[in-house]
Amino acid sequence: MAYCADHNRVINFAAGPAKLPEEVLLTAQRDMLNYSGLGVSVMELSHRSAEFGKIMNKVEQDFRDLLDIPDNYKVLFLPGGGTGQFSAVPMNLLNGGTADYVVTGSWSAKALKEGQKYGKVTEVYKKPASYTGIPTHDTWNLNPEAKYLYYCNNETVHGVEFQQTPYTLPNVPLVCDSSSNMLSRPIDVAKHGLIYAGAQKNMGCAGVTAVIVREDLVGTSIPECPIILDYKTQVGMNSLYNTPPVYSIYIMGLVFEWVKKQGGVQVMEERSIKKSGLLYDIIDNSDNFYCCPVDASTRSRMNVTYRIGGPNGNEELEKKFVDEAKKQGMISLKGHRSVGGIRASLYNATTIEETMKLAEFMTEFKEKYFSLM
Ligand SMILES: Cc1ncc(COP(=O)(O)O)c(C=O)c1O
Repeated sequence: MAYCADHNRVINFAAGPAKLPEEVLLTAQRDMLNYSGLGVSVMELSHRSAEFGKIMNKVEQDFRDLLDIPDNYKVLFLPGGGTGQFSAVPMNLLNGGTADYVVTGSWSAKALKEGQKYGKVTEVYKKPASYTGIPTHDTWNLNPEAKYLYYCNNETVHGVEFQQTPYTLPNVPLVCDSSSNMLSRPIDVAKHGLIYAGAQKNMGCAGVTAVIVREDLVGTSIPECPIILDYKTQVGMNSLYNTPPVYSIYIMGLVFEWVKKQGGVQVMEERSIKKSGLLYDIIDNSDNFYCCPVDASTRSRMNVTYRIGGPNGNEELEKKFVDEAKKQGMISLKGHRSVGGIRASLYNATTIEETMKLAEFMTEFKEKYFSLM
């Protein structure tokens, strides 16, 4: 079957939906009209068919292999995005109790707000003036009665990332939103009660959210919980209570195969350290032309955030940076509208060579405009 790559692709530094490996896109292109000799696209395949069942089983097994998920954890592929889980987590786990939230950026802040609809949900420390780091755990006010301790592994907007699994009290399960760093570094599943991640950054395209949940936490939802977000129902139906996002699940499966082929999560981590290091080095040696507001110990490997022209940023220079980068084939470098500045997202599909191109551009841009600072 004939298919070809479009060699005019640009370098996409978007925060999500984000770049997919070209190999994945080419396989999807090849399969588009006729998946596996069936004469139909995966989009046209019944979710109850044996063929889709095979896709689903392989996707789950590859995910289990990649993360070394213990047998006492269930894996779900659900609709509703990460935001759906902001509600699903408290509706399934809170049940009239309390929960603690570590708020390190806008995504955990949103999860906290949603959780507060369902019970007594509190922050473990007072909201900081800005999200530029993670207070050490000895300053956290932890409740031993909490049903869970919630954290966001990587804050996509602010560029703040946990470098290790946070501390929790005995018998208080950790709940982790790993939407924007899943598969970019190993994660110790056994230290968690629940981990979830939307696919559209490091695992595929929008539409599906992977949930890993410890068996003993399944079955405690409140009666008002919508059935499609009810873990017990979805576990019982193998994520097929209703029509699942079949195509997004298929694409996620291709991404899992690709990560495995590259050498797994460990290799993704090595590349992520290298890629983010290239940019942080330039930032830290730029005489404040580039300024990253995030504490060095919690800087994200996935979303490198910085201002240009001093710590408060020079918006004119930042606009020039985005425009000139675009002319050189590098897109989506504008920071989130709530924080401004620049954000370079370096998910697994972004290559070291592509990151080097951005690094070179940053060096040239600084030389050209340093005097305008
Ligand atoms: C860390 C994190 N959590 C949750 C979300 C929300 O995901 P969704 O848009 O799939 O609801 C995002 C979206 O960017 C995110 O970055």
